[in-house]
Formats: sequence, C-alpha cells, structure tokens
Amino acid sequence: MQIEPGETIAYLGLGSNEGDRAAALEQALVALERTPGVRLLRRSTWVETELVGDGPAQGTFLNGVAELATRLAPVALLAICKELERAAGRTLPAARNHPRPLDLDVLAHGSVTIDSRELTVPHREWHRREFVTAPLAELGVDTATWRRWEPPQVLGTAAGLAALTTNWRTGGCSIGLVPTMGALHAGHRSLIDRARRECDRVAVTIFVNPLQFGAGEDLAAYPRGLERDVALCREAGADAVFTPSPEAMYDPGFASRIRVGHAASGMEGAERPEHFEGVATVVAKLLAIARPDRAYFGEKDAQQLAVIRRLVRDLGFPVTVVPCAIVREADGLAMSSRNIYLDAADRVASTVLCRALRRVDAAFVAGERDHGTLVQLARDEIATEPRGVIDYVELRSETDLTELPAGAIAADVAAAGVRMLVAVRFARGPRPVRLLDNLRLGAGCAGDAGADVGAGSDSAAAGTDA
Ligand code: PAF
Repeated sequence: MQIEPGETIAYLGLGSNEGDRAAALEQALVALERTPGVRLLRRSTWVETELVGDGPAQGTFLNGVAELATRLAPVALLAICKELERAAGRTLPAARNHPRPLDLDVLAHGSVTIDSRELTVPHREWHRREFVTAPLAELGVDTATWRRWEPPQVLGTAAGLAALTTNWRTGGCSIGLVPTMGALHAGHRSLIDRARRECDRVAVTIFVNPLQFGAGEDLAAYPRGLERDVALCREAGADAVFTPSPEAMYDPGFASRIRVGHAASGMEGAERPEHFEGVATVVAKLLAIARPDRAYFGEKDAQQLAVIRRLVRDLGFPVTVVPCAIVREADGLAMSSRNIYLDAADRVASTVLCRALRRVDAAFVAGERDHGTLVQLARDEIATEPRGVIDYVELRSETDLTELPAGAIAADVAAAGVRMLVAVRFARGPRPVRLLDNLRLGAGCAGDAGADVGAGSDSAAAGTDA
C-alpha cells in the first residue's frame, strides 16, 4: 500500500438498509475517490447483517469497510461522511437505529484517539460489531493496537480524572458527576441514569470518605464491593469510575477543611458534628478535580443536599446541583447502603418512617397547617413501632431547610414548599442502625423515583448515603 507524505491511513465503515443498498455503498466509494485529500486504497466485500440493538422493524443491512489514504483530519473526514449521507437521502440528525440509505462511520484514523462530542475514534463500538471486524479481517487489517473502548474507565488518581474530564471538555462534551461512597443500589443507579440522560459523559466517584465519619462510626465496616459497583456503573453506561485510595485523596500534609455554617447545624449536624465538614470538603475537592457541568445527589440525604447547594453557591463552583428523587423499596423503605445492617425484625419495623411521612403528608394535603400538629402526627406514628427510637422529627422550609416557626405555617411558606425530615434509631438488633427519611409535603406521592425534575430544581431525588 502506497502512502504519500502527509497522508494517514483511515478506515470507514459503510452501511445501508434502505433503497438500493449496494448502489448506495458503491456510489459512496466513487464519491470518496473524487474527494480531494482522499484516496480509496481497498474495500471489503459487502456483508448482509441484521440491525444491532433496538429499533423499529426494518430490512437487513449491507455493510463493509473501506481503507483510505487521506490528508483530511478526522473531523474533516467526518464532515465528508455526513455530506455523503445527506446526499444519499438521509435526514440528519437521524433518529437512533432507524432505517438509513447510507451510514458512514470513521472507524479509525492512523493511531489517533479522540473522544469528543461529535466523534469518537477509534469508533466506540468497532470491536463489538462483527459487520466491522469481519470486513477488517478480510482486508487483513492489524487492529491489535486499536483502542477498544470498554467503559467505564477506572481511575485511581486525581490527575487521571482531571486529565480525562479536561479531554471531554475540550471535545465539547458536557460532564455529569455522580459522587458516591459505593455499595451502589437502585438509588445510586437512578442518579447515574439521570446523568446519562442529561450529559455527554458521566463519571461516578466511589470513595468512602474518612473525613465524614466520626470516632466510633462505621468507617471500617462501611459496606464495600468495588467489583459489583463497577459492574453496576458499566450497566448504567457510566464512562468513568473514580475510586481513589484515602492517600490519593488526602496526602499526609492535607490540612484544609470547608465548614458550611448554618446549613450544617442541627439534625444530622447535631448528631455528627464533623460530618458535614467532611462531606463539604470532599465534594469541593471532587468538583475541583472533575469540573463537571452537573453533579447529582440523592434527596434522601436532604440536609447534605442543602449543605452542598450552599457550598456551591458560596464558593462559586460553576456546576448545577441536580437533586434526584428518593428511590424506595416496594414497602416504602428509602434505599440506603446501610439498610443491609437491619436484621429481619428491624427491617419490618423500618417502614414506620415512610408510614409516618405519608400520614403527615395526607394531613397536610387535607389542609392541616399547624406545625406542632404535623410533627406530633409523625411522632405518634413512629411511636407505634417500639423498635424505633426517634432522633428527630423536623419540619423545614423546602428552599434551604431553615427552621419554621411554631404555630400555623404561613400560606406563602407552604406554597414555596415544606419538607418533613425524620431520623429513627433501631438499636435492638445485633447492630444499631439509624435511618433517615424525608418528604416534601403535598407534592403528590413525593419521594418516589422517576420524578423528572429540571436541572437544579428543588422538587425531588435518590436514596444514597451520607
Ligand atoms: O452521599 C454520599 O454518598 C456522600 O456523602 C458523598 C456525597 C459522596 C460525599 O462523600
């Protein structure tokens, strides 16, 4: 094969399943040959294939591969491909997996690796598609050095994550960050799913953050299962998982802490004095490293969410904080990584939190506005379950979780939203467990996952763990 100075070998995938398929593919090759800066070196035979993935009922494809010598940069070659697709009668942007008269993909371009919004090279799926690998094999192309994208990329260093997200940003990709402490469950999955829907690239962080555990808390015993977690991230379509060691996050000289003031006082802050300082510090660090456009947090930890919103506003992080609805078990228990600590009797008893919140919600919907009455209703319901001991029952403003005065809730405050938050301790089993739950009153069957709220909206989110 003759390559001239300034040329690069590139491979295109060609496909068609509408109209005269063979003619469309042959015409595309002729057009490519006539394109300045492109020389067609070789082409495979066409193979007949079925659609890969879901899509409307449609005919089979003819597919093949062309080997080019080109002076065009990858994006310029892509632009030519799009032009030829349009000329063949394809409407662009095209609906996913719909029939098409012509489909041209840049499979590879020399040894370059690109992961941008418009183009991923080598093609993201090349190694998973037989209609690409078989024609390449027919041409005897050596693909041993071609990058195989096997997301998620698992990264252990801040520098690695920063380099990856910088690369994404440079390629025009929007970035979603899902900070977690692992032991992932359906609540976390809903955060990743939402990030996947809203962002071009998604990074999940898995880090059991020692700074947010107090003395005597369950840092050492906190549930861990990296392999399972990475599998869940893979299934959810995350692009990267950042899983640093404590030493990689906090070098021996690490001495800075972020204190968030009022938002972190009371409720969880009263129970765990340094907890939110640890949360704020690690979240600030993750935001600084990854510089995401959007960061996703579960609403089960409503006070944590308020702390993070305050932090982001106060320090000017250019990120949209996206709250995601609580995900519940079928019987109403809010999902949490620590639920596995519940023994059978406590697990049955644990539904009392959700029952109490729903009872208060029903009263609120029926018009009850007295602060004390609403709190007492929750307390009475929780008291029906002798295994549970109340830590707190609080009624707070939805906007920033500030305390509400005693007496009747003013109409404008009720309209802006009020949220009830409860913490209940179950200490009779072999292992004491503290459960949190909360509900925005009058928001329908609030707290149930799937509420598709807008970016930065206050209305709803997933049960993760603080
Ligand atoms: O909610 C959690 O899992 C953690 O508190 C967070 C936000 C990942 C910080 O460590």
